[in-house]
Amino acid sequence: MKYEISGTGGRTVELVLGDITRQETDAIVNAANSGLRGGAGVDGAIHRAGGPGVMKECRELGGCPTGSACITTAGRLKAKFVIHAVGPIWSGGGSNEAGLLAGAYRTSLDLAKKHGLSSISFPSISTGAYRYPLEQAAPIALETVEDHLKGDTSVSRVVFVLFNQATFDAYAAAMAELQVG
Ligand code: APR
Repeated sequence: MKYEISGTGGRTVELVLGDITRQETDAIVNAANSGLRGGAGVDGAIHRAGGPGVMKECRELGGCPTGSACITTAGRLKAKFVIHAVGPIWSGGGSNEAGLLAGAYRTSLDLAKKHGLSSISFPSISTGAYRYPLEQAAPIALETVEDHLKGDTSVSRVVFVLFNQATFDAYAAAMAELQVG
């Protein structure tokens, strides 16, 4: 599923079902924790596929604030960079989770722009172990990406790599809403 952002000269957002570690975009985004210590889910898969060099760089960075993102090289992955984004842990919605989730996406895109990258892949940040409700997270993710693509940026292609059908369906529904609205 592909969505072209109007007025941007052909910049696109794509939704695919799959494994982000196989993506060949310039950067792939990790759903990390603020200690950049590695973990399960996407984080485990990226460190397994990328090899120990990625973790070594994460240790040197020492951590990354929630709602933000930090960048390393990508080791054995096909991408050139891994952007480690730290989404919020869901705790009911009253702790600025929406602002922090948008911040994780926005900072990732700003880092991609800073490095002159043209393509980037995202997982569904915070909707696994961090329990952010999927139907609320998907529009925030897509709107933040759309805002970035409408501005001055090197990024022309954003891919959401969604790991299961329920996640794909939630993003597809949010994308349909954006196209209508
Ligand atoms: N490719 C794409 N998406 C994946 C992959 C993969 N290889 N593996 C898992 N996912 C999906 C999950 O199904 C979920 O939809 O990524 C989404 C995010 O889930 P998590 O990886 O659990 O990320 P998050 O909710 O942000 O929690 C982050 O989990 O692994 C730890 O160290 C990590 O503490 C951090 C926390």
